[in-house]
Amino acid sequence: FSLKEYNTFGIDVTCKYFVKCDQESELLEFVRSYELDPEEILLLGGGSNFLFTEDFDGVVFYPMMQGCEIVGEDDEHVFVRVGSGFVWDDFVAWTVEREYGGVENLSLIPGHVGATPVQNIGAYGTEAGECIDRVEAVDIVKGEKVTIDAATCRFSYRDSIFKHEWKNRFLVTYVTFRLAKHPEFKLHYGSVKDEVARLGEPSLKTIRQAIIRIREAKLPDVKVLPNAGSFFKNPMVERAIADALSEKYPALPIYPVDDDHVKLAAGWLIEAAGWKGKVVGHAGVHEKQALVLVNTGGATGIEIAHLANEIKKSVFLQFGVWLEAEVNVI
Ligand code: EPU
Repeated sequence: FSLKEYNTFGIDVTCKYFVKCDQESELLEFVRSYELDPEEILLLGGGSNFLFTEDFDGVVFYPMMQGCEIVGEDDEHVFVRVGSGFVWDDFVAWTVEREYGGVENLSLIPGHVGATPVQNIGAYGTEAGECIDRVEAVDIVKGEKVTIDAATCRFSYRDSIFKHEWKNRFLVTYVTFRLAKHPEFKLHYGSVKDEVARLGEPSLKTIRQAIIRIREAKLPDVKVLPNAGSFFKNPMVERAIADALSEKYPALPIYPVDDDHVKLAAGWLIEAAGWKGKVVGHAGVHEKQALVLVNTGGATGIEIAHLANEIKKSVFLQFGVWLEAEVNVI
């Protein structure tokens, strides 16, 4: 089965079996009928965070559960249960329209709701994990349905338990978000505040519009230039290492993490190492945001992975920092 239409890098690879399903009960029946091993399965949402370097010799699950409904509330919050196949940005638009706060800074992130707890998607000072109340999933090993609370998900920067000991074990079917009835606006990241001011008073609507503008100005449209957003994570380093680097490179952006650690802007490092806008074969580094690798037309996954490795090596040689992929390289 061809995965070309199911990954935003547009890589032409196949999988052995492709399971598309919009009913949780059918998904349960399916996993009970086959003895599946997490090693041989892959959970795919919008395919906006994958780089396939070869055909996948296993089962790809493509959950399509729909629905977006309020399932509870208290004085401060509403709880909204959303199907894993729901398009993420349609959900964000839904929340902004009804003036429920929490995910507006995550406007225009590609992909489906089901991927949000796995990847703990984040942008402009917000992470999805901050608003996730619980995750419903099908356990492929035990063949049963489970509900997992947010604390168990162990959310951190672009990370969760679903990328470690529970990798490929749980097929996310629904996510319940806890949204604020009286939202606090998060304007502190980069140019968000200024962009909002250009549009008027801060509100969920102006924040959404501002973020859409910022993203559209910097990030390539997957329909025009196939890509998977940031290819690398912003590396976390010890504060002492960052201090030494910023003495030599005062412009290097540094974000605090805890007393001993900070994050560095990988895009800045890649640009400073001379890669911004470079094209090698059919793989390129986006000219407006060096953290994004693009398929300039007909690239193979290997070509893009090769470019990523060259970038990693050169950033390491210049700055002594190893970049780690943010996309899943298969
Ligand atoms: N920068 C450069 N050159 C570049 C790119 C960035 O100098 O080519 C500098 C910018 O000027 C800025 C800093 O690096 O000072 C950070 O850049 P930006 O605000 O564009 O964000 P980022 O750190 O590169 C992260 C996320 C994005 C998210 C933005 C906004 C990761 C891996 N990426 O990028 O997420 O949209 O912040 O919050 O954390 C994604 O995960 O796919 C993604 C797009």
